[in-house]
Amino acid sequence: MTKHIGVLTAGGDSPGLNAAIRGVGKAAEGYYGMEVIGFRDGFRGLVENRTIRLSGDSLSGILTLGGTILGTSRDKPHKMMVGGKVHDMTDAIIENYHSNHLDALVCLGGGGTQKNALRLAQQGLNIITLPKTIDNDVAMTDFTFGFDTAMNIATDAIDRLHSTAHSHHRIIVVEIMGHRTGWLTLGSGIAGGADVILIPEIPYDVKSVSEAIRNRVRKGKGFSIVAVAEGAVSQAHAAAKQQAMGLRESAMDKVEKQKAKDELAALHALEGEHTIHLAHELEELTGLEARVSILGHLQRGGTPSAADRVLATRLGSACADYIAQDIYGVMVACRAGRTEAVPLEQVAGQRKEVPLDHPWIKAARRVGTNLGD
Ligand code: F6P
Repeated sequence: MTKHIGVLTAGGDSPGLNAAIRGVGKAAEGYYGMEVIGFRDGFRGLVENRTIRLSGDSLSGILTLGGTILGTSRDKPHKMMVGGKVHDMTDAIIENYHSNHLDALVCLGGGGTQKNALRLAQQGLNIITLPKTIDNDVAMTDFTFGFDTAMNIATDAIDRLHSTAHSHHRIIVVEIMGHRTGWLTLGSGIAGGADVILIPEIPYDVKSVSEAIRNRVRKGKGFSIVAVAEGAVSQAHAAAKQQAMGLRESAMDKVEKQKAKDELAALHALEGEHTIHLAHELEELTGLEARVSILGHLQRGGTPSAADRVLATRLGSACADYIAQDIYGVMVACRAGRTEAVPLEQVAGQRKEVPLDHPWIKAARRVGTNLGD
């Protein structure tokens, strides 16, 4: 009997999503003779039953396209804004899964999507996922597609910033995406030869950073490139956050709890502007001029790199193999060069941070990069 499968992309977009949709679709339809539909705009399209047939023509010519032809959203099935109120839309999803006669639903996404996918699997749907995000922080896979492309874009930006920093004898602080993990900043920082790399996993001491920059000046290098992750924080900030969180947990009454919550919210608000703040601090401490460059969504746009196209095609087509074998409740991962189906329970709710003894950290230190500690 012909199998019917649905595909959706959820969370932030990333290069390689279309290559993965094509990988799943071509292998499922062309190789296994399955019927494939796509849902538009992530879980919202599944709730609203907005579908598109994915076959021959629509799967052709998309390998090199950035973004996702399906559209995406950050909507969660169990907490979706509908008619101005938050609703649990899981039942609507189950209904549409069955009304489309699906045998499996493929969810392409990052950490949040893996959690939502597990929730649906626990409701009895046949779910299978693929790991996507420029952050590379999905657990149980060595790499996520989108990461390599973003790393190339950020590296190219650092290369370009070098020449202008050099000409003006300036510090350039370049902010790279990654709220919670530093893979992208670390990878592009190493590849671009940043002098300082600051990531969320290693809270920094601004004095250590300014000292490293002053040392360079003493050696005749009047410019420095500081690659800083969106989510990097100073040691003082990390300590204040820790304290406020402790207070929130141990608070004996409502007033104290609210105070801790307000304190946390204030700290959180400061994080949005920390790169600019850091640049000011470095100007004061070094006497050099500093400029800020925030790369933002540039890192998520455009055509995927060759490595991302290969990874997305490999994981996408393997996904069709697993569906053909009725293997569900798993994420198709890339582990030590192999393709593996990892149970969603081992992925959802876990974040893959940069281990402090990771070879990239060691390498950065060996070549004299300051990591802010
Ligand atoms: O998770 C991918 C990511 O690009 C992060 O690096 C970044 O912090 C976030 O998404 C930005 O999200 P949005 O697209 O909602 O601005």
